[in-house]
Amino acid sequence: MLIIDSGIGGLSILNNIKKNFPNINYIYMLDNEAFPYGEKKEKFIVERSIKIINTIKKIYPIKKVIIACNTASTISLPILRKNFNIPIIGVLPILKPAIEIKKNKIVGLIATQATVNSSYIKKIIYKYSLKNTIKIIATNELAIIAEKKVRKLSVSNKKLKKIFQSWIALSIQPDTIILGCTHFSFLKQEIQEMFYKPINFIDSGDAIIKGIKKYFYQENIKKNVFLCSKYNKKIKQLLFFLKKYKFKKIQEINLN
Ligand code: DGL
Repeated sequence: MLIIDSGIGGLSILNNIKKNFPNINYIYMLDNEAFPYGEKKEKFIVERSIKIINTIKKIYPIKKVIIACNTASTISLPILRKNFNIPIIGVLPILKPAIEIKKNKIVGLIATQATVNSSYIKKIIYKYSLKNTIKIIATNELAIIAEKKVRKLSVSNKKLKKIFQSWIALSIQPDTIILGCTHFSFLKQEIQEMFYKPINFIDSGDAIIKGIKKYFYQENIKKNVFLCSKYNKKIKQLLFFLKKYKFKKIQEINLN
């Protein structure tokens, strides 16, 4: 099983996968050279995803791919599925609570700029007339903050407040927040602290398990492998965090 993200966000998905399938090995690809995907053009994200899968497929006997990134999933899933003959499973922002919304309830969706601008999100907003019921924040900064947090660097409260300002200022604040980026699951506590009421967080962690179960068959990957696209100081800072995911070292893979 190959798991792909631009950064540590996919590890929040891996958490759930490990709980459900504890005895299998994983290849995790962290595309730090291209982080953050949220500010990239759609063409770049599609080509990058194809490149990653093709490169890794040549080295490891992968039988399915998990795009553990909302940005890459919303933009490139249909194209990837056309390009590859193995299952490609993605994480899409779960908009169901917004679709089922009752009067007086405010649902917030927070995702990267690229995800918010994607035609996938635009179509759902239009199809279910969600424009007035869902409050959206598009941010590339929050994924950067999540990267800092897992490296034990301090999280700036001021920056967080600025990101959430438009919701903080509402007379009725959201009580359900859809985390439309896998990085954000690492910041639930910090996000909660921005608001008065307890927040019901919706992330993509559970939904992915259903998708994987559908394609569950034995894979022949001998040990857990952690790959990055650029080995540098920032990557080294991740090592201690990766131990709890049973990754012992980080290897660079050349995508160029
Ligand atoms: N983790 C990614 C997502 O779920 C994106 C972070 C980024 O590279 O901007 O959208």
